[in-house]
Amino acid sequence: MNRIINKSSKLNGTITVPGDKSISHRSIMLGAISKGTTHISGFLTGEDCLSTVSCFRKMGIDIQIDDTNVTVHGKGLYGLSKPNETLYVGNSGTTLRLMTGILSAQNFSCDITGDESIQKRPMDRVSIPLSLMGADITGTEKNGKLCAPLHINGSNLNAIEYKLPVASAQVKSAILLAAMYAKGETTVIEPEPTRNHTEIMLNYLGANIKHDGNRITCTPVKELYAHDITVPADISSAAYFITAGLICPDSVITIKNVGVNPTRTGITDIYLKMGADITFSNEMSVCGEATSDITVRYSKLKGTVIGGDIIPRLIDEIPIIAVAACFAQGTTVIKDAQELKVKESNRIKTVVEELTKLGADIKETDDGMVINGTGSLKGAVTESHNDHRIAMACSIAGLAADGKTQINNSQCVDISFPGYFELLESLM
Ligand code: S3P
Repeated sequence: MNRIINKSSKLNGTITVPGDKSISHRSIMLGAISKGTTHISGFLTGEDCLSTVSCFRKMGIDIQIDDTNVTVHGKGLYGLSKPNETLYVGNSGTTLRLMTGILSAQNFSCDITGDESIQKRPMDRVSIPLSLMGADITGTEKNGKLCAPLHINGSNLNAIEYKLPVASAQVKSAILLAAMYAKGETTVIEPEPTRNHTEIMLNYLGANIKHDGNRITCTPVKELYAHDITVPADISSAAYFITAGLICPDSVITIKNVGVNPTRTGITDIYLKMGADITFSNEMSVCGEATSDITVRYSKLKGTVIGGDIIPRLIDEIPIIAVAACFAQGTTVIKDAQELKVKESNRIKTVVEELTKLGADIKETDDGMVINGTGSLKGAVTESHNDHRIAMACSIAGLAADGKTQINNSQCVDISFPGYFELLESLM
């Protein structure tokens, strides 16, 4: 499907964006291996999270979905059953990587795979530490890296101390999930802090995860017990509306109950540094996660340097931050972001390619990009590369660009944000 976006100003309104993708995945996974019934509200019914649901249903877990309310009939840490068919994760890296941690410790073997993009993404980053714990994981070698389809033979695991070579919440989470089943105390050492939703939810459900500086320790768990979970709105989805409000003249947008866990707020920190008018109100804590309403107003932004330990706190927002940088005065440098190359698309390449079509002054570097803010873009035909975040970033660029912008293959927004274009139109 292709979408046309026309130049817009005065975006106005109060909106709610869908539930957090990372927390929604974890609510299904941890609900499934908890004892008892978990009621989840605010669940993201995007394709990625539905892939997680489908995998657990194939392992005997009864999951009912009623709009954004989900009921998971958990069977406890040892209650999953061997699936009769290959588990299919679609486009979802989080499903594949986190589930590899859980599956490594089961008393059955199974196969797991996903779409074309997933089959190119590196899985050795999880198979290496899990194998050190005793896991038996085999897969397909591509460019010297282990990739899906994977065959996982459930094993008895031992604890490890492991220093992550790349800052990745998916890898940390896979190890912590396996560590619950392992003999002994496992420690993961992070090079930089990454999203800690697994740790927060595990402790909420009765595990004992300790955090000391950059060391995260997990002692084996006998059982997790079901607790109801409320999922905050996803700051990674709010990011498109925050940016639209900042770059479309005369806009004021409020986004309700957004998850503002400090491991996720790199985008608002950077925008504030760039001179954005962003305010936080109605601050709360829900199931251990901080939430807030976020109000943004059209602002004159200044270019900045984005690199170092803020990168994991805004890794998924870099495509949309690049759009904002086109409208900032001066140069924005994004560095230390080589992880973008192994996302749903190579996001250094795809961002530079698509914003170049819109007339941006943007250059690819080895670990990011350099953008000279020109204050304007011009409408063009863009391509999503089947990457949801590229499609949404192009659409916001299109709102601020002169004339008309087309986004080809825009249906991939359903991966993380069903109803995205309709919500955008509601603000016009
Ligand atoms: C996620 C972690 C990040 C992020 C992804 C979701 C998670 O990936 O990009 O969209 O839910 O743990 P990495 O762990 O590969 O950085």
